[in-house]
Amino acid sequence: MEQVPAIQWFPGHMAKTRRLMKANLPYVDIVVELRDAKIPLSSGNPELPSMIGTKKRIILLNKCDTADPAVTARWVEWFKQNGIAALPVDSKTGKGLNAFLPLVRSELSELLERRAEKGASGRPIRMMIVGIPNVGKSSFINRMAGEKRAKVEDRPGVTRDKQWVTVSKDVELLDMPGVLWPKFEDPAVGERLAVTGAVKDQVVDIELLAMRLLDWIRDGYPELLSRYKITPQEAEGLEQYELLELVGRKRGMLISGGEVNTERAAITVLDEYRGGKLGRLSLEAPPKE
Ligand code: G4P
Repeated sequence: MEQVPAIQWFPGHMAKTRRLMKANLPYVDIVVELRDAKIPLSSGNPELPSMIGTKKRIILLNKCDTADPAVTARWVEWFKQNGIAALPVDSKTGKGLNAFLPLVRSELSELLERRAEKGASGRPIRMMIVGIPNVGKSSFINRMAGEKRAKVEDRPGVTRDKQWVTVSKDVELLDMPGVLWPKFEDPAVGERLAVTGAVKDQVVDIELLAMRLLDWIRDGYPELLSRYKITPQEAEGLEQYELLELVGRKRGMLISGGEVNTERAAITVLDEYRGGKLGRLSLEAPPKE
């Protein structure tokens, strides 16, 4: 079967991220990792835990507005079983973010108690935001600290380190997210990242991506095919390419000789998915234990 070619992430980028994280980790109490709620595994970076060592980490399942809420709830449970607190959020509208600081405080409760005992409870909680490109790091930082972020930079004579943004009187975040590289050894991971738009279309075969997406829809959400006037019965048993052709045919995307313009059909399917028109659709479910 044809595969999405491996996508290059330059060693220089990785080295830079590692350096940045190593330099700043000693100053933070917790690492906040953003992932795409539609692909909570593929949007992670397997090297992150070893990079952050014993530092606390929480996972934000960002863009939860675009994922299937039932599947997202299962992910939260799955992460919990694996010892990691995860929270679904929508950094575009801010939905879910009011639970963020309480979660951070609860994860850091031991540290905060120790600080209180030492009389250092006024010390702010500091955090670092990390995640793969396009996962929503800037949106999140802006949501949490938008106006304050601008204010700190505008005030003349501010002596404090500008890298820190005040979120509330006792919480600060590093205004420099760590850009993690995604990992593509498994072609399915690369495909899912590309379907969600996390990696650029130019480097991947869009017809292949649309075929994979349609196949996933047929398996998990067959009723959504009605958007293309395709019944689950019609879709059943078709090869992935035939399903893409059927979408194009139903939409009247024909070229001379009555053939289907599958490239146009693929662009349509991917655009509609990314634009949320196909509904809230998760592309990964938690692995079975
Ligand atoms: P990054 O810093 O991690 O690279 O990501 P960034 O915040 O730039 O976000 C990338 C895209 O994802 C942006 O869309 C942003 O609006 C969108 N986004 C971020 N968080 C969420 C979320 O929780 N839900 C949804 N639905 N979208 C989110 P864009 O198309 O690049 O820009 P625009 O749509 O904001 O104009």
